[in-house]
Amino acid sequence: MARTWLSIQVNLVEGHGEQYWPRPGRIIAAARSHSFKQLADAIDDAFARGDRSRLQEFTLTGQTRLRRPDPDWEIEGEITGDCGRYSYTSGGAELYDALGIEGTTYEIGFEAVRLALGDIQGQVFLDFGCGTGRSAAFLRSLGAGRVYGVDRDPDMIEKALARRLGGVVFTRIDEVIPLPDESVDGAVSLNVFIEIRTPAEMSGICREVARTLRPGSRFIVESTSPLAFGRTFRSYSYPASGELRSGEITPCIVTTPAGELVIDDTYWTEADYASALREAGLTITAIDYPMPRDPSAWSTNEALLSPCIVLTATKS
Ligand SMILES: C[S@@+](CC[C@H](N)C(=O)[O-])C[C@H]1O[C@@H](n2cnc3c(N)ncnc32)[C@H](O)[C@@H]1O
Repeated sequence: MARTWLSIQVNLVEGHGEQYWPRPGRIIAAARSHSFKQLADAIDDAFARGDRSRLQEFTLTGQTRLRRPDPDWEIEGEITGDCGRYSYTSGGAELYDALGIEGTTYEIGFEAVRLALGDIQGQVFLDFGCGTGRSAAFLRSLGAGRVYGVDRDPDMIEKALARRLGGVVFTRIDEVIPLPDESVDGAVSLNVFIEIRTPAEMSGICREVARTLRPGSRFIVESTSPLAFGRTFRSYSYPASGELRSGEITPCIVTTPAGELVIDDTYWTEADYASALREAGLTITAIDYPMPRDPSAWSTNEALLSPCIVLTATKS
């Protein structure tokens, strides 16, 4: 099953005998496994049309027309794929690599993590889910003496290695972190936990990270705020509206200077994050929903609410 999500721009052209200009529009994210019926219903929902009794019809290239009750209408039937782990393609890793921190929505979370970390001069850090190296470079810029960046995605690690960052060791991992027990002075995981698909996987990761922490050291997890879903921020947006349940997967459109990237994020609540950390034997010492320093400088939803959650947990 292809994992690509389609980003579909839908505009309302006319209605009630009126031609609209500008045309109101929505971007709808659809997996290739969605049926045309689901797409038609999503369009109706996006334009607040609850009555589904009128005509829904698509004309495909080659002039094939799809409409109820065509047998082809439900072409693939139900939402299936994308329930497993998300994997970046080489192109996806390249786009992610173009993001940077300054001026992006991510800057708000990184700044909060910087404040939570305080002085880390010369310390050894683990960066769990290091991606293409942005968060490892960030730790080094704060003075960390050595950073171990681990990630399961080969394309992300390849890009990270290409940075040739001094003082950083990047390793591709499956589940085990190749570090001895109690060997690091601190750990972070930034923008990673939204890619974790089950509470068991989240607890397992927290346990494995906790194993590597020296007693008294901290694990800081920064992730998407549970209130950020359905919102549009400068660097990413969650186009799907409606209530989500823990563990539900929803598309996230990431806007980078090199183009747009659609990834699958998982909705988790504060309680989900907190219980995974506690189950690993860690004590939560702070939970923060940081706002930008100057909210009025943002024309997107950062002005209204925090895009992220930052949890600090300590090993006793
Ligand atoms: C959105 S990127 C964030 C990268 C980096 N921390 C940053 O902020 O720039 C998330 C990364 O987490 C990695 N990841 C997700 N789940 C993981 C897991 N279970 N084990 C290791 N890496 C994981 C992904 O492969 C991806 O590179």
